[in-house]
Amino acid sequence: MLVRPTVRAFRTSRCRPAFAPPHNSNEFSRIPTPMTAQLIDGKQIAEQCRQQVRQQADAMLQQTGITPHLAAILCGDDPASQVYVRNKEKACATAGFRSTLHRLPADVTQPQLLQLIAALNSNPDVHGILVQLPLPRHLDTVAILDAVAPLKDVDAFHPENVGLMLQGRPRFVPCTPSGVMRLLSATGIPTAGRHAVVIGRSDIVGKPMAALLLQKGADATVTVCHSRTPDIAVLCRQADIVVAAVGIPRFVRGDWLKPDAVVIDVGINRLGDKLVGDVDFDAAVDRVAAITPVPGGVGPMTIAMLLENTLTAARLQINHP
Ligand code: GUN
Repeated sequence: MLVRPTVRAFRTSRCRPAFAPPHNSNEFSRIPTPMTAQLIDGKQIAEQCRQQVRQQADAMLQQTGITPHLAAILCGDDPASQVYVRNKEKACATAGFRSTLHRLPADVTQPQLLQLIAALNSNPDVHGILVQLPLPRHLDTVAILDAVAPLKDVDAFHPENVGLMLQGRPRFVPCTPSGVMRLLSATGIPTAGRHAVVIGRSDIVGKPMAALLLQKGADATVTVCHSRTPDIAVLCRQADIVVAAVGIPRFVRGDWLKPDAVVIDVGINRLGDKLVGDVDFDAAVDRVAAITPVPGGVGPMTIAMLLENTLTAARLQINHP
């Protein structure tokens, strides 16, 4: 008599890496096993993007003698912003870029900041300008971001670049939404004809994210939820792809997610000494098809896309293909 061995239904590793075959393909597929989501490894995908940028920057240097140069402006001493800017500087160094950090005091005036931006705009040695957000409250963020020369606007916040992106002919693509699109394509997750629910309507993530998912080629059907949306859970339960960019720790509950959903968590929230996303990862991971971890998901992609935009900015300014 054939005796079926006893198997442990639970996997030893909590998450399987991207590109792994579906779980139920093993010989004991009739034994119900709890689903464990495919882990979308942003660190690894970002590393591949950064290596490509490095190769292209090296080729540019050889052919033109020019090194892409990012100027970052940091106003005040917000600890999270300091970490983000330091990480951007490090990423520039490993990509073979120049970077210059302009540190300004928290009480910098609007005219002083505008003067610095004007100087960077007219400096031909500087290809990309990044004003780290949030700015101190007394500054007019919109006026400051509008002052960055569109060709140096590597965050893609300038209305000219927002308009080009919305029309489907992007010059620069906003870094975080661009990183999400790259994660989906690198992991082989299709978007065409799928229902994507974006939670959050910020200018930095939610709005451009919806636009990119909607554009020709991506072809998703997009729902955007925000603080006045009556029942976000009901909409989420209909989503093939959920992008959570709401800035509230573990806002998206496990039971809001379909079993075959792909979950992209843009949130980075400090909870005690832990970083957590906008999705309740522990509740979601055993329910959905694929999920990004926090940290190690979208975060590294944002920086990789900033490098790509800075390389593009350098190319545009020196007329190098
Ligand atoms: N603060 C949080 N995210 C961002 C970003 O993508 N760009 C800038 N400039 N500041 C930020």
